[in-house]
Order: sequence, then structure tokens, then C-alpha cells
Amino acid sequence: MSHDEELSAERLVKEDEWNVKFRKVDTSLNGNFKQHFPNCAEHGFVTSEPGGFFLMDEYSRHAEKLFRFKPRSDDVWVVTFPRCGTTWMQELVWMIMNDCDKIKAKAPLAVRSPFLELPYMLPLHATAPEIRNMMVTLEMIEEMPSPRIIKSHLPFYLLHPKLLDTCKVVYVARNPKDVIVSFFYHHRLFDFHYFDGDVEQFAQYFMDGEVMFSPFFPHILDAWSKRHHPNMLFLFYEDLKKDLRGEIEKIAKFLGKSLTEEQLTDLREHLRFDNFAKNESVNMEPAKQFGRFNPDGHFIRKGKTGDWKNHFSPEMNKRIDEWIETNLNGCADLKFVTQLEVQD
Ligand code: A3P
Repeated sequence: MSHDEELSAERLVKEDEWNVKFRKVDTSLNGNFKQHFPNCAEHGFVTSEPGGFFLMDEYSRHAEKLFRFKPRSDDVWVVTFPRCGTTWMQELVWMIMNDCDKIKAKAPLAVRSPFLELPYMLPLHATAPEIRNMMVTLEMIEEMPSPRIIKSHLPFYLLHPKLLDTCKVVYVARNPKDVIVSFFYHHRLFDFHYFDGDVEQFAQYFMDGEVMFSPFFPHILDAWSKRHHPNMLFLFYEDLKKDLRGEIEKIAKFLGKSLTEEQLTDLREHLRFDNFAKNESVNMEPAKQFGRFNPDGHFIRKGKTGDWKNHFSPEMNKRIDEWIETNLNGCADLKFVTQLEVQD
């Protein structure tokens, strides 16, 4: 074996090693945290070393299995931080990969495009049995026919180390101010995640990396650093809001598909917020019948860029701006759009 071959063999072994440890976050078990997150704080959260990744402690028992889950070369993965437009992108990618088949698209999106870590992050009691029965386990994903469209909120280093070298990945980012607001309402929607505080208190937890799937910046910055990889398409929610049709064309090209004019027009209509919010295959409204959801909330909620302006005081906004600036230090080419003159 040559020296180079030895080195690359060594690298392969190393890349395959699972070196992530988890420790329980003490503050998540008591004090203000417990008051603010009364339901999910019951079991507490864990944080990873390295990375400080923050998730319910159930996940730590399955993290290595998820890391070792092998992608197929014809998979398409939609990887995002929560509330960045994941569901929208899953449907878009699924439609492109399935010849815009509206009949097949009537099946629940959660079944057509499984959420990789979902069955492995919630304790048993947190989901209604009817919903748990619908969850797609790793074994079931193994059995799915190609092409699989897989969703994950895990950062890259917690996914299979060869993911990007194996299959196409679409990453969607969104400006953090709207993500905070959207994630706040998400925590009001699900009983288990219920947040008993106001949006500014939530924003503080978010900036401190103490909400599930945080910290936000390492997630995005790691993906950003991979944006030139030929298997990676890095997109922004705000670009979809500005020019949905153009982004559909870009994504189709990346996936090696071409749509007819009619398909393009139809798909744009299918994905437009007003239609999407009414679409029971994607909007999660049917799950409300099983309880554990706030009947007044909506998963497909508002769909606007700039809703943060209706939620943050000037002082809070200034603190968030400072947090963004500190975290983007040294990454001048990544710019977030926080308002749009024209949007759908
Ligand atoms: P808001 O809460 O700001 O409305 P995710 O799927 O990653 O959880 O993202 C959810 C966010 O995407 C929500 O943001 C939701 O309304 C928005 N969204 C979902 N479908 C959309 C669509 N068709 N057009 C615009 N925004 C959409």
C-alpha cells in the first residue's frame, strides 16, 4: 500500500468513527427553563460534545444509529434547521421527482418523505399512538423504493459522513429573525414542546442555543461551507418567496429533471402559500384529531418574510442584530434577507 493509500484508508476509518458524546443539560431540568418548557423539560435535554447540539434526551440513545444510516446514491435529502421552509421544499422536491403526480401526492407527505430522526427524539408518551403508528422508522425507510426524499434537521456532522458524496442534498436556510418567530409558534402548536413565555424570552433561548436543534449558526454555516459541492444545492426561503417559479426551475435542473411549461405553472400554484396551507397532505391539520396539538395553531402558519417586525421591540431587534453580526463574523459572503418588497 502506498503512503497516500494508507492515509486515505486511515481517513476512511476516522470518518466512520462515532466520536460524539452527549451530556444532560442541568438547566433544562429545573428553574426558569422548566417553567418555560413545562412538558419537554420533564425528561430534559442533552447537548453534544463536540458541537453543542441541543435536543431531547431520547435522541442521544439513537444518535449513532442515525449517523450510520446509509444514504443511497439516488436519494434526495432535504436538510434544514427547523422552520426554514422544509415542508415546502419536501413537497417541491417530491413533486419534481415524481413527475408532478397529484394523485400520488394525496398521500401524507410524512409518509412520502420521511423525517429521519422523528421517531427517535420523542419519548413514547409525547405522541398520540395514532401518530406514532404513522411514523416512518429507519427500517421502513430502508424498505422504501427509490428515489427516496428524506427530511432531516440534523446538522451534517450528525448525519452519515458520506451523505454529500453519495446523493443530492437540498439545504434551505432562512433569516434567523423569521425563524425565531416561526419556531416560537411551533412551540405553541405542539403540546409536548409547549413554551410558556413570550416571543422575546423565546428569542433569548434561541440565541443561547437552548431550543431543540440549535445552535442555529453552526448548522447553517457548516452547510454554507459545503455549498460548492456538486451534490449540494444551498437555497434561501426568501428566494422562494421572491421567485418561486425560478427556484422550481433551478431545483429541477439540479435534480436532473425537466418540467413542461404546464407542469411548472401547475406546480407553482400547488406550492403557493394559500393552496399549500389548505392541502391536508402537507398541512398536518388532520393530526389535530388525535389531540396533543393546539387547535388554534397552524403548522403552515403565515408564510411571510418580515413577520419578525410584528414581534420584536427595537431593543430586542438590536440584540438579535448584534447576535447575528457576531456569528457571521468572518463570513461576509453569507447575507440574510429580512424583508422583501415583493413577495407572494
Ligand atoms: P411561518 O411560521 O413564518 O409561517 P418548516 O416546514 O421548515 O417547519 O417551515 C415552516 C415555515 O415555512 C412556516 O413559516 C410556514 O408557514 C412556511 N411555509 C410552509 N409552506 C409555505 C409556502 N407554501 N409558502 C410560504 N411559506 C411556507
